[in-house]
Amino acid sequence: MNPNEVRAILERQAYESERTGPPEGFPQFPDVPGKRYVDPAFNALEREHMWHKTWVYAVHGDEVPEIGSYVQWTRLNEPLFFIRGEDGTVRCFYNTCRHRGAPVVTEPSGKSRGVTCKYHGWTYNTRGELINLRDRRDFVGLDLSCRSLIEVRCESIGNLYFVNLDTGAEPLRDYLGPVAAYLDEMRPDELILVDKTAIKVKCNVKILLDAFLEVYHLKSIHQGTVDRFLDHRGSAIALWEKGHSRMVTPYRREGWKDPGVRGLPSVEGVDPFFGDTNLSIMAYPNFVSPVAPQGVPVLCFWPDGIDSMTIEVHWFAPSWGDGPRPEVWDMRLKNFLSILDEDLQFADKIQKSVESAGLRGFPLNYQERRIYYWHEELDRRIGADLIAPELRVPAMLGEYVERPEPVPAPNAADPVT
Ligand code: FES
Ligand SMILES: [Fe+2]
Repeated sequence: MNPNEVRAILERQAYESERTGPPEGFPQFPDVPGKRYVDPAFNALEREHMWHKTWVYAVHGDEVPEIGSYVQWTRLNEPLFFIRGEDGTVRCFYNTCRHRGAPVVTEPSGKSRGVTCKYHGWTYNTRGELINLRDRRDFVGLDLSCRSLIEVRCESIGNLYFVNLDTGAEPLRDYLGPVAAYLDEMRPDELILVDKTAIKVKCNVKILLDAFLEVYHLKSIHQGTVDRFLDHRGSAIALWEKGHSRMVTPYRREGWKDPGVRGLPSVEGVDPFFGDTNLSIMAYPNFVSPVAPQGVPVLCFWPDGIDSMTIEVHWFAPSWGDGPRPEVWDMRLKNFLSILDEDLQFADKIQKSVESAGLRGFPLNYQERRIYYWHEELDRRIGADLIAPELRVPAMLGEYVERPEPVPAPNAADPVT
């Protein structure tokens, strides 16, 4: 990490700890309308213009470890699967046969040099090309080359594979901007998948997303856990373009070390600053990661329906070498999930509130500005004109958005001079 950046974060934390109010001129936000969480038309716009047009993290390379390994993936409520090709490349396709739409893979995961639709036997290779079909003589003028599986944009940062349903989307790295630089710092091509868990929650996805964009709640719901070592009042927030953001929360005691990571290997060469503070990055719209040198948890938030969602917890870490997973991981994963339980406790109740006449809108404070920014970005992507006036979140944070210098990707070719 650039030393100037570390210095700026530390100065910012000191400023935040000592300030007596928001910075001079900071705006008062209008309430975020509660109906954004329940209105079917708004949520349909959100799906069409945001979820279906954005890069989202999907799978780790370890989930498709060998040539022909495949895994189904339906988090965007679209039937997709990933498969590792003969050339080692991981590709993503619609799990939809080009004949009459039956799935071409039916197991959740598996391994095959190609996939054969079980309905009438059309066969595709790992590049998605149609290579064989039964009774070809009975099709008039069928051009196999026009009947490949439909491919979905899939790009990676190291072993972390992202997808975007929008074929015209900008490249993943351009989209992620400063977030990619933070992931690169963790040597993502060497990170292994340690664990993956999914929890269903009965609330609109935005209710839980909001909860992970602030530390204002620490003193109440994490009083016996996170609040004991994190000082929420010193939290330094950076808002970045495209809705991404970063929040760096200081430890209460300088030099405090997380006892839960003792004995675990660190990412080679990582800046020690990552272990000295709690640094959480957010890749818009649904990727939240409190990165640490001994392991990177990633929380992904997925809408299942208007009032139901799934939270996925992925854990990536440097390899501990041969042998079974060190026992310290059991405690680390368990602790993380029990803190997560604290975060989930009100989600279904807040859902009931937004469905009721008891809630009209959310007044957000300066500390909660990442939430406001998230919603601002959503409206930007949908286009304010398409949103009912009473549901809009007007843009107010533009002048607070930071634009860090782009960092070249590791191993990027030297620029031609
Ligand atoms: S639907 Fe797949 S072969 Fe007919
Ligand atoms: Fe929390």
